[in-house]
Amino acid sequence: VTDGMKVGLGTGSTVRYAIEALGATGFDLTCVATSSSTEELAGRVGLRLVAPDEALHLDVTIDGADEVDADLNLTKGGGGALTREKVVATMAERFVVVADRSKVVPRLGPFGTPIEVLPFAPGVVTGHLLGLGAATVDRRDDLSDNGGVLLDVHFGEITDPAGLAADLSAI
Ligand code: A5P
Repeated sequence: VTDGMKVGLGTGSTVRYAIEALGATGFDLTCVATSSSTEELAGRVGLRLVAPDEALHLDVTIDGADEVDADLNLTKGGGGALTREKVVATMAERFVVVADRSKVVPRLGPFGTPIEVLPFAPGVVTGHLLGLGAATVDRRDDLSDNGGVLLDVHFGEITDPAGLAADLSAI
């Protein structure tokens, strides 16, 4: 990251270190946050925040992950910020993930797959998820920053992450 860049800021306990380090550079950065907790942290370390629609394009987004496999497929969303994280990732030229060794798995799956759904019909979506082969679907008590319902879905070992992602997006 260099002075003047536009930077997307992820959410979680790992990317927090990157956000604090960015604040310490003293660079004039324009940042977009992926959650209210990241907004609060960025403000505290002196980073300037704008809305996604004001930035439109970012040089880089930095975020964490819940699982990383050998092909760099990711499970994300453990912190419940997954929808905003996906949007902010799409805005960036580069997407950089910070993760320690505890996140590395041979195949995605053990953590589960967090999913955000519209509060309109989470039961309908749950039915579709079970149809896709989910073993369990657990609904969290907390809502996302968007007011969305958060589901933790267990598909077992995920052999085709891209295929599953497409199937999920199609619901
Ligand atoms: C937030 O919704 C997530 O996608 C986080 O990026 C992910 O859960 C990693 O968080 P930790 O760094 O806290 O493990």
